[in-house]
Amino acid sequence: MFRIGQEEKEAVCRVIDSGSLFKTGKGVESETYLLQKKMREWYGVEHALVLTSGVGALTSAMIAMGIGPGDEVIVPAYTYIATVGCVLSVGAIPVVAEVDETMMIDPADVEKKITSRTKAIVPVHMVGFPCNMEAIMAVAKKHGLYVLEDTAQGNGASYHGKKCGTYGDIAALSFNFYKILSAGEGGGLLTNNQELYEKAFLYHDCYALSGFEGETADFTTEPFLGNEYRCTEITSAILRVQYDRLPILVEDLNSNKKKLLAALEGKFRHIPMNDADGDSAINAAFVFDTAEQCYGFRDRYNEKYGIKFAIPGSSRRHIYYDWGAINAGRGAAHPAMDPFRHPANADILRSYTRETCPFSIAYLERCMNFEIDPDWTDEDIQLQADKLISCL
Ligand SMILES: Cc1ncc(COP(=O)(O)O)c(C=O)c1O
Repeated sequence: MFRIGQEEKEAVCRVIDSGSLFKTGKGVESETYLLQKKMREWYGVEHALVLTSGVGALTSAMIAMGIGPGDEVIVPAYTYIATVGCVLSVGAIPVVAEVDETMMIDPADVEKKITSRTKAIVPVHMVGFPCNMEAIMAVAKKHGLYVLEDTAQGNGASYHGKKCGTYGDIAALSFNFYKILSAGEGGGLLTNNQELYEKAFLYHDCYALSGFEGETADFTTEPFLGNEYRCTEITSAILRVQYDRLPILVEDLNSNKKKLLAALEGKFRHIPMNDADGDSAINAAFVFDTAEQCYGFRDRYNEKYGIKFAIPGSSRRHIYYDWGAINAGRGAAHPAMDPFRHPANADILRSYTRETCPFSIAYLERCMNFEIDPDWTDEDIQLQADKLISCL
């Protein structure tokens, strides 16, 4: 989260003063209703749903797509463990695809990983960088697969002028503390598909079966038992303000990133991007010739300035061979619920070793993520550049 202030305080007080922290009972005046309307307009989609977390959104999307035991879902080598956990939580097996030099999922490797069991592809717009959505959508169309965009880190980014989160069949957002827009915690779902929306809605709210407020009145999906990922009115009130901040925020981030890159010209090499104009610019990613150079730089910088860099290849739980329990073959808390032991998944290859995606491993250990601050002054930017250069 970058900016929060008086407007959010007033929004929270408004909800507390109303005495009504639950999203229903207020009809179209509800903060959640108004936020979802704002999101539909911002992304230009038919349906937007606010939930408690990105995991809630991803899981509801998996359920909506009908994913379960016997299915494979293709995920990138570089993503937070939550993306993958959601595949396992519905009983399916995650299949890892390489990233390319953009650090995003490699559409060519995705195609190589498709089998008769594949049901969906999950491109993840990591660190605010857009995936190559045209290529991903083409592969998905050719093989009749769903696309779920994990836009948890990609909110505010776009690809060829269209917002990330609006290419696939469905998209998940996160509003946790580390995301560009935040209410501390929170999640969002976007889709143009009525059937996926109905199923995701039913899953995110087990109370939806009672059909309160007419939200489910026109649903044709046969009701099924859901889970509980309903947001509070406080979350929605904060996010309504946060969304108003988004366009200027992305502009300021881009402006500061461009200034930093200009100050580092000839010294640091930024990785190629699928669409630099669609960058949300929360992050700059530099690539070194070797992993030794990358780690050496990080150690010198940390020793001098005490700040820890994120090297994607060594960042805990963000690269597939560091997915902890998953690498150890434990896909659920209870063994009887474990997709790795489920008979329907018996003949599915599961592979999470360093040999599974050799390019990703070697490449991500040569890359370094550096967070951009939208509120840096020109002096701050020069100082950041001087510090970086002094550690080369
Ligand atoms: C790529 C990615 N997907 C999903 C999530 C899960 O989001 P949440 O923490 O809101 O559940 C995160 C959270 O950091 C993430 O970075």
